[in-house]
Amino acid sequence: MMKVIKNIGCLAQCKPDGTQADIHLLHKAAIVWQDDKIYWVGPQSQIPEGLAFDEELDADNKLVLPGLIDCHTHLAFGGWRQDEFEERLRGKSYLEIAERGGGIQATVQATRNASKAELSNKCRGFLEQMGRLGVTTVECKSGYGLSTEQELKLLEIYRELGQTQPLTIVPTFLGAHIVPQEYKKNRRLYIDLLINEMLPAVCERNLARFCDIFIEDTAFSTEEAREILNVAVKLGLKIKVHADQFGDNSGSLLAADLHAVSADHLEFISDGGISCLAQNSVVGVILPIASLYTRQKAVDARRLIDKKLKLAVATDFNPGSAPSFDLYLALMLACNLCGLTPAEAVKGATIYAAEALDLSDRLGSLEPGKLADFIIIDSADVNHWLYHFRPDTCLLAVKNGKIIYQRQE
Ligand code: NIG
Ligand code: FE
Repeated sequence: MMKVIKNIGCLAQCKPDGTQADIHLLHKAAIVWQDDKIYWVGPQSQIPEGLAFDEELDADNKLVLPGLIDCHTHLAFGGWRQDEFEERLRGKSYLEIAERGGGIQATVQATRNASKAELSNKCRGFLEQMGRLGVTTVECKSGYGLSTEQELKLLEIYRELGQTQPLTIVPTFLGAHIVPQEYKKNRRLYIDLLINEMLPAVCERNLARFCDIFIEDTAFSTEEAREILNVAVKLGLKIKVHADQFGDNSGSLLAADLHAVSADHLEFISDGGISCLAQNSVVGVILPIASLYTRQKAVDARRLIDKKLKLAVATDFNPGSAPSFDLYLALMLACNLCGLTPAEAVKGATIYAAEALDLSDRLGSLEPGKLADFIIIDSADVNHWLYHFRPDTCLLAVKNGKIIYQRQE
């Protein structure tokens, strides 16, 4: 099946080469794809001769981008924490709320109490709405189960969703989110459980591609993280780190040292941390919705980019620090709070987000051989898109060569 989309006003190919700002624009462009893969991309006037198309789409002179990739979410959780939102607005900090047993611990209780079907339906609803935003790939962390059985429950939900709805799901094991209440008095026991039981169970069942950890005074120390992540690497998982979110805890240095695929958050990253990540090709993931909701100073993206760090932008969707799954919002905030230009932000939700998920061989850019995974946006260019912020800007999404979403007029 050979198909074509013509009349693309502005096409951002988002190839890996160049700087954060290079999104490889083509005007009056077309994309040809065969089955699930891109066959040709270029100016419409140069479409190879002799091709017969089974279907033709018209982009109506609009903007076309690779399908957006949300490379950091905590999708499966029970309940919500709207009262903590009010507490923070009254002056309590995110960490103070965590210390009194709220925060992640509260969501762990609610998640354990929720059935698999209930959580799965909730996730399915989120994914459907993310799809309408033009998101076609979502990384999903466990981390609210915190026992072998409960963590497997969350990862199994992700596996089923990956098979039964159209978006690509990338599962991450975050059993080291915090030490759960029942192990507070003996954290060593929980670390042993992570190492000897949980990680092997996850890997045996092939339920995760990544192992992530939260490095923070209320969660895990850098030394504990090193021990746990070393085991994860031995078992075949790739590494991600929640690093330097509420203080400089050397999380970025550890991420660089262990050749993590990404280091995420980075509000308090040191100059040394930035250089180490860049030297070791670790992608930095900024999460401006989380900075906003925890009422912290957002990452100064220019400081990181100037040191040649590649930046991805994601939502961090979770019920505490980032209760929105709107990647379009995260991109707009990455501009207004972090100082990225729209083109730089777009690279952060396409090819660099694919690199943060180790999927850049098939996703994140529009080039021959990659998956036909692209969206039409109701704008003339990326500057207009992220400047004129409004609902429903995605007109159509194609995933693996097939239309999975079309805006109703
Ligand atoms: O990425 N920082 C750790 N984990 C999440 C917050 C999770 C929660 O508050 O429930 C984050 O911000
Ligand atoms: Fe997170």
